[in-house]
Amino acid sequence: MKCDISEGVIQKGDSHGAISVELSPFRPRGEAGQQGLPKKQPRILVLEDQKQIRELVRAMLRIRKYTSDEASSLAEARSLLARTRYDLLFIDINLPDGSGLSVVDEHSPDSPLVIVLTGNCDLQTSIEAMRRGAVDFITKPFTIGHFLQRLDKALEEWNARARLKEYAQALRNLVEFKTDELSRTIRRFDEIRDMTVLALGQALKLKDNETEAHCVRVSQNSVQMGRLLDLSEFELTNLKWGAYLHDVGKIGVPEQILMKPGPLTPEERRAMEKHPVMGHAMVRSIDFLTHSTDVVLSHHERYDGAGYPSGLAGLQIPLHARIFAIMDTLDAMTSDRPYRAALPMSAAAEEISRLAGSQFDPEMAKIFLSAPPITWQIQNNR
Ligand SMILES: [Fe+2]
Ligand SMILES: [Fe+2]
Repeated sequence: MKCDISEGVIQKGDSHGAISVELSPFRPRGEAGQQGLPKKQPRILVLEDQKQIRELVRAMLRIRKYTSDEASSLAEARSLLARTRYDLLFIDINLPDGSGLSVVDEHSPDSPLVIVLTGNCDLQTSIEAMRRGAVDFITKPFTIGHFLQRLDKALEEWNARARLKEYAQALRNLVEFKTDELSRTIRRFDEIRDMTVLALGQALKLKDNETEAHCVRVSQNSVQMGRLLDLSEFELTNLKWGAYLHDVGKIGVPEQILMKPGPLTPEERRAMEKHPVMGHAMVRSIDFLTHSTDVVLSHHERYDGAGYPSGLAGLQIPLHARIFAIMDTLDAMTSDRPYRAALPMSAAAEEISRLAGSQFDPEMAKIFLSAPPITWQIQNNR
C-alpha cells in the first residue's frame, strides 16, 4: 500500500477493520512545539505483521523526522532487539508467531518504552499490556493527529526518563566525588593527627631517656591486649595513642629530676609524680586525643589503690590504664637498662603473675599470661 499523506485521508481495509487516517486536523508542530522533545534521535522499532500498517506508522514517524526499523514477526523483532538498543517500540499484539505482549514481558526499567497498537477487540489485552509496563496503546483505526499526539506524549516520557537518568548519574558522580574528597580529607586529618602525636613523642624524647621504641612497643602491646578483649577499632585507636603518649607529661618535669641518676628526694618524687596530671592536661586539649587520656592520667594507678595521682583502686581504674600498666612493666623488665641487661620474658611473666591483684588487675594479668609469649613485642625478640 502506498501511504501518501498528502492526500488528506488514507483508507485501507484490513482484518482489524478500516484504517481511517485524517490528515486535515494535523498541523506540523513549530519550533515551540518541539520543546521538551529529545534532542537526539530516538531509536524506534515498529513490530507489526501487516505491511500496510507498518508502512503507515513509519510514514507518520517520518513526519516527525524519525527513522525507524521494522519487524513483521516476534522472531524478527527479537533478533533486532538483541542487536540494537531501542528507545521506543510500537508493537502489535496478534502476530503470526505469538503475542506481541511477550516483548512487553521482556521489558525492564532500562528497556524501551512500549506503545501497543491494537484493534478495538484487544482493549482488554491493551490494558493488560499497560499493566505489564507498556506506556500507552493506540487503537486501530487511528487518525494521524491521534497517532502523533500519542507519539509526542511517549517521547516526552522518554525525554523525562533520559533527564532523570542523567540527573541520577550526575548525583552518583557528585556523591562519588564528595566521597573521594571526604576520604582525602580524612586521610589528611589522620596524617596530621599522626604527625602531632609523633611530634609530642619527639618532644618528650629530648627531655627523657624513655625511648621512642619503648613507646611504640607498649602501644603495640596494649593494642594487642585490646584485641584479645575485643575492643572496638575506636577504642583501640584511643588506646594506641594513649599508650604511646603515656609519659608525655614528663615534658613538664625539670630535667635535673628526670635525668637524676640516683634516688629522688621526697620533694623530687612529688614533682615527678605530677607527670600524669600534666600529660592529661596537655592531651585532653587536643581535640582528636580527648578519648586517649585514660592511660596518660592513670598509668601509675595500682589495682590495690596504692598508686598515683588519684589512688584509684580495682575497676575504678580505667580499663585502658589497667591494660597499659602490665605492658609498661613487661617492656621495662625486658629492656636493657644502664644498671642491668634485659631480663627474659619468663621473668617478666613471673613478676606480673606475682603482682596480679596488687599492682595489676588480676583479670588483665590472666589474659596476658594465657597468651603465647610470641604475642608480645619486646626489645630483643624480633
Ligand atoms: Fe609514667
Ligand atoms: Fe613507660
